[in-house]
Amino acid sequence: MAGDLRGLLLLLLRLGWALPWEALPRETQAGDHGLDAAALSWQQPELPSVLPSARWLWDPERKACPPGRKPAVVDEILVLYEEWELEACVDAALVDAQMDRVNLMPFTYQQLHVLKRKLDELYPQGYPETLARRLGGFFLEVTPKDVHKWNVTSLETVTSLLRASAGRRADAQVAALIDRYVAGGGQLDHTALAALRPAYLCALSPQQLGSVPLSVLWAVQPADLDACGPLQMDALYRVARTALGNLSRPEYLWRIRPYLGGAPLEDLRALTGQNLTLDVAAFKKLRVEVVQSLTVSEVQKLLGPNVLGLKAEERNSPVRDWLLLQPQGHLDRLGLGLLGGIPNGYLVLDLLRQGAPTSLGPDLRSWRPPSCSWLGS
Ligand SMILES: *[C@@H]1O[C@H](CO)[C@@H](O)[C@H](O)[C@H]1NC(C)=O
Ligand SMILES: *[C@@H]1O[C@H](CO)[C@@H](O)[C@H](O)[C@H]1NC(C)=O
Ligand SMILES: *[C@@H]1O[C@H](CO)[C@@H](O)[C@H](O)[C@H]1NC(C)=O
Repeated sequence: MAGDLRGLLLLLLRLGWALPWEALPRETQAGDHGLDAAALSWQQPELPSVLPSARWLWDPERKACPPGRKPAVVDEILVLYEEWELEACVDAALVDAQMDRVNLMPFTYQQLHVLKRKLDELYPQGYPETLARRLGGFFLEVTPKDVHKWNVTSLETVTSLLRASAGRRADAQVAALIDRYVAGGGQLDHTALAALRPAYLCALSPQQLGSVPLSVLWAVQPADLDACGPLQMDALYRVARTALGNLSRPEYLWRIRPYLGGAPLEDLRALTGQNLTLDVAAFKKLRVEVVQSLTVSEVQKLLGPNVLGLKAEERNSPVRDWLLLQPQGHLDRLGLGLLGGIPNGYLVLDLLRQGAPTSLGPDLRSWRPPSCSWLGS
């Protein structure tokens, strides 16, 4: 595999060489640990990129390219260049033109960083799509912020970069890529949708979410949907409810949980009697109007033992707003010391049902502060 070859070459290159990675602990930098350190530095791409190589970057005596070192092609020789030499000798236009060859060479992350900065200087407004499409493995060097500058109009760009990033840690870049593509009116086809990871779902339009295949829905964890808005959650819930519909009941209840943030009130009510226990984090992600409409006893059933967690959220939305709508007497029954409910003694007007005052009953959803009158009991 290319990765293995690159790792091996890096090890060879680094043996004998000073480690550029200065933030390593002292003992790791010592000679006989050099191997470990070099191995570490290609397994953990994100670490070196945050370490500025400022020492030579901002060197006032920035060196000129030594005679005979200016390359006409991207090849193995460049891998032996020090970073300052790459900086001094390599043209950004060459990197652009020979991106496919850049991806074949076992450059270190520091070297790739130099090449990336050259491209950034060449295209300060963002890479043109003709380059973006050819980035291949180099896509992992760009940041989500870079991607947000691009115009992504062709599905081919998306699929080629999805391929390049498959199995790599580039979720934020891919989400940005899909965001740009969808924002420009692009539609993903079945192949592209099937290649999506759950973490990209929130980059899709509600419409597009309707076509996400079951294989992707299957892998969704609640945190994957944190960035989704209400319309996206609604769409995801609808598609998940259908797609997961013929699972066995316990399995359905387990799989549907990440999507409940898009569930309408009727569906959630139907789930309260079943073997489904939400934690407070999941409760907080329910639709606002759903939370507001649930009674104390429904919330108690939905949260089960997790109902204890409401106390810690007492002052935060949406729990606080929910508390304001509950009869204090019902809250008291939970025994959690929750405050802020409707004081006992207020008349509740159940306008929707009877248009007449009712006594405090279990169903107080239509209570609204302005329409209450004090009975002075
Ligand atoms: C994206 O498209 C806009 C409008 O056509 C253009 O002004 C801008 O320069 C393009 N950006 C890139 C990075 O190609
Ligand atoms: C769900 O039902 C459809 C046919 O109605 C069937 O093709 C599919 O395999 C079923 N899926 C599961 C997970 O049982
Ligand atoms: C309730 O759900 C848990 C975990 O999801 C499962 O282990 C248990 O068997 C379920 N109980 C019933 C009665 O379905």
